[in-house]
Amino acid sequence: MEKNKRTPVIAGNWKMNKTPAETFDFINEVKPLVKDADCKVVFCVPFVDLESALKASEGSNIHIGAQNCHFEKSGAFTGEISAPMLKSMGVEYVIIGHSERRQYFAETDKTVNKRLKAALSEGLKVILCVGETLGERESDITEEIVSKQTKIALNGVEAKDLENIIIAYEPVWAIGTGKTATSDQAEEVCLYIRNVVSKLYNKEVADKTVIQYGGSMNAKNADELLAKTNVDGGLIGGASLKSEDFSIIVKAASK
Ligand code: PGA
Repeated sequence: MEKNKRTPVIAGNWKMNKTPAETFDFINEVKPLVKDADCKVVFCVPFVDLESALKASEGSNIHIGAQNCHFEKSGAFTGEISAPMLKSMGVEYVIIGHSERRQYFAETDKTVNKRLKAALSEGLKVILCVGETLGERESDITEEIVSKQTKIALNGVEAKDLENIIIAYEPVWAIGTGKTATSDQAEEVCLYIRNVVSKLYNKEVADKTVIQYGGSMNAKNADELLAKTNVDGGLIGGASLKSEDFSIIVKAASK
């Protein structure tokens, strides 16, 4: 599995943080810090912050994403946002299937698949999240879980669409807990996911697929995690809210 075939992607997942005004200031602050990045830089921000994030990032190497989208184009779905709405604003990326959506908002593998396909059909790039809970890891079913999540999410997705899909391996027990997976654990599961993609499609597609690690990645541990052959970047929560920490992670991915 050749790492040099893939450009790493460092994506910030702000979750429910920052107002539009704070977004504008933050993106302007981080711009000069990441301008020489040798990796892709993305911020996935709350819906209401998208416009100011897009404005602040104009002409820079920073790409903007949302954190979810609905599977229908429009209709009676109070509180939801559709893929065409995001696309029309100029949004490029969208996170689909984050464990917090699965855990708190009843997202299932099936709805993840529907949302992912809706996003792709609008030409959005998807960051698909998969990962096991602590109980699942302790029961030694990590591989079964990430395999099932990946296979159902990609059901009906053509090989050519994989270039618009990033898979983020995010062990649920490592998210926001300060408990990072070891670099070996991250590498092991990212490689496993790559093999799942290879079996679903082929080795060429799998070799090109960007697979990130996410879960308490920070300025201190990024170097070690990102050095692993099958870890092609990170999905960063807490550390993406601080410009200095985020830019250190971007530098680690640029090596
Ligand atoms: P964390 O979040 O970096 O704060 O653990 C990662 C994520 O949920 O994507």
